[in-house]
Amino acid sequence: MIAGPLPDLVGRQHECGALDDLLTGLGEGGSRVLVVRGEAGIGKSVLLEYVAARASRVKVTWAHGIEADMELPYASLHQLCTPFLDQLDELPGPQRDALRVAFGTAAGDPPDRFLVGLAVLTLLTRASETRPVLVLVDDAQWLDQVSLQTLEFVARRLLAEAVAMVFAVRDPEGRTALGGLPALRLDGLDTAAAGELLEATVGGRLEKRVRDRFVAEMHGNPLALLEFSRGRSAAELAYGLDSSGFPSGQGPVAGRVERDFAGRLGALPADTRTLLLIAAAEPVGDARLLVHAATALKIAIHAAPAKAAGLIEFGESVRFRHPLVRSAVYHGAGPEERRAVHRALAEATDPVADPDRRAWHAAQAAEGPDEEV
Ligand SMILES: Nc1ncnc2c1ncn2[C@@H]1O[C@H](COP(=O)(O)OP(=O)(O)OP(=O)(O)O)[C@@H](O)[C@H]1O
Ligand SMILES: [Mg+2]
Repeated sequence: MIAGPLPDLVGRQHECGALDDLLTGLGEGGSRVLVVRGEAGIGKSVLLEYVAARASRVKVTWAHGIEADMELPYASLHQLCTPFLDQLDELPGPQRDALRVAFGTAAGDPPDRFLVGLAVLTLLTRASETRPVLVLVDDAQWLDQVSLQTLEFVARRLLAEAVAMVFAVRDPEGRTALGGLPALRLDGLDTAAAGELLEATVGGRLEKRVRDRFVAEMHGNPLALLEFSRGRSAAELAYGLDSSGFPSGQGPVAGRVERDFAGRLGALPADTRTLLLIAAAEPVGDARLLVHAATALKIAIHAAPAKAAGLIEFGESVRFRHPLVRSAVYHGAGPEERRAVHRALAEATDPVADPDRRAWHAAQAAEGPDEEV
């Protein structure tokens, strides 16, 4: 088979190494199973693409769980077996009949699941006698129940066959699917890799403090990093939000999330909301600046309700739970309020150490045309 291009991956050396080992084992004629687990957008599918692209002289077959097909028994199993169905007639009679009924090419009572499992195992084993077989199953959380059970059965029974199976499942803890199989858990990218991805997307270098803040707020989730930074320049991220209408969350999901956060903000005391507005207007997450600006605005530093609402963390630096919380805070405030906050931040920013940012806050604070009025 012709392998596809290798995806551009950052920071997944360990995971790619585990998949390379699996392919080496497969090439040497042994079976291997791995379940890649992790939350949405963490990079499971792209790792399956990686292993598919790295597999040479291997027969690769895919199944994709599809939420809308979860009620269709054997839908995903059928997809996975399609390349091997010309061998169906060679199976032992009971296995062949069970699989035919399962796939709807023969009439009959619902087939014995054990026979269906055996039939798939036999099909894959026979195919692997010509060339090793790599079975890739993406979005296993959406497999129909019988396909999932059958594949789990097959995975547990593989011994010395040249068949490897890699599953990707959106179930970080392994609570629901494929529980007892060997797992590779994906966490967020580390700070360096996530920073690299962010800079590659915005097409420029970012100041370390700004970069680290975004990375921490997005917990190194590649999809979150890509979605948030797409279409934004390094300069926009460096200065953060501005009153000329910095686009808030893009797309319907981001819009919905932002509205949800906006709802939680509405329940906070006024001083706490202003404190959050200062944090949102200040791109670096410098807790000292926040305190200075809050003092200048004569508001109480009353952060506990925002912490309790899970919106922000205050430590040496200030971190929103998600960048969309920042946009919700910033865009939820009135123009006059935003200008006051930028004015206080301009005054609190050191003119020697950070003249550009001070000038930027001052510009934001100045009266001017405001599109939102
Ligand atoms: N290590 C990485 N380096 C560069 N880009 C990455 C990396 N990991 C993921 N991405 C990119 O992030 C996005 C999300 O990754 P992917 O689709 O693999 O996530 P997923 O875990 O399969 O999510 P879901 O559970 O929603 O299916 C993709 O655009 C992917 O190319
Ligand atoms: Mg995926």
